[in-house]
Amino acid sequence: MSNQLTTTTPDEQKPVFSFASFTLLILFVFLATLATAVLLPLWLPGLTTSLSGEAPKAFWYLSRGSAIIAYLLLWLSMMLGTGITNKLGSLWPGLPSTIEMHEYVSILGLAFGLFHGLFLLGDQFIGFNLAQILVPFTASYQTLAVGLGQTAFYIWILLDISFYVRKTIGKKAWRAIHFTSFLTFLSVLLHALLAGTDALSPAMQYLYLGTGGLLVFMVLYRVLAALARKKEKRLIPQAIPPKLPVS
Ligand code: HEM
Repeated sequence: MSNQLTTTTPDEQKPVFSFASFTLLILFVFLATLATAVLLPLWLPGLTTSLSGEAPKAFWYLSRGSAIIAYLLLWLSMMLGTGITNKLGSLWPGLPSTIEMHEYVSILGLAFGLFHGLFLLGDQFIGFNLAQILVPFTASYQTLAVGLGQTAFYIWILLDISFYVRKTIGKKAWRAIHFTSFLTFLSVLLHALLAGTDALSPAMQYLYLGTGGLLVFMVLYRVLAALARKKEKRLIPQAIPPKLPVS
């Protein structure tokens, strides 16, 4: 983590990982999860069944567990991102650390999103093939709800790539891309509520309500703070007395 006392701005700060490390990480997670979900049941058929009795549900649990972690990481990354723009992050833990954690948590969450989708390949009940997992709105189960999760995943990849092209594409385009993170979060929330088995449990409903509510607070705080700054700017020139003509 950077020294919190430095005055780096988001434009000056370097990405936490190099682009090569980011690509390698995603590729590794993709291949390792694919191998686990496809090859492990063939090599060790007893492993998947032994975890859940007669009906093998191990991959379903793995997928649901990583889904909830991915959701929480996406939420945390959004909280940190809004903390950069509404300046709450400058109070704690400091702007440079907030920027780094925002990126790091987002990339980690993306990896968990990939675990979640690909682990479904090992679940015999849902019976998705690789194409149904990778191509949005083609799944044989909960097509629309699953499609929302898939679309969110691809926008999330673009968002993470945008950390590396910030200087090339310019501030305006970068901000426009970054704005789609709200769409990603909303799609994931709808996806989880409509497709998720756990959405029926009160604990998960409180979790979705609590996390969603806190994010709405951060966004409202940002909007109100921006409006207050605008008003202040408009008032300041009137507060300065007009210069007297020099005779
Ligand atoms: C890669 C494409 C994706 C596919 C194919 C997919 C598929 C699914 C499916 C089939 C379910 C229902 C599982 C169940 O029976 O409970 C589900 C639930 C869920 N997904 Fe996804 N999803 C994808 C992307 C994402 C992403 C990117 C996130 C989060 C950031 C996410 C978060 C969730 C959550 C939180 C649940 C609810 C889990 C539960 O209630 O147990 N999904 N997803």
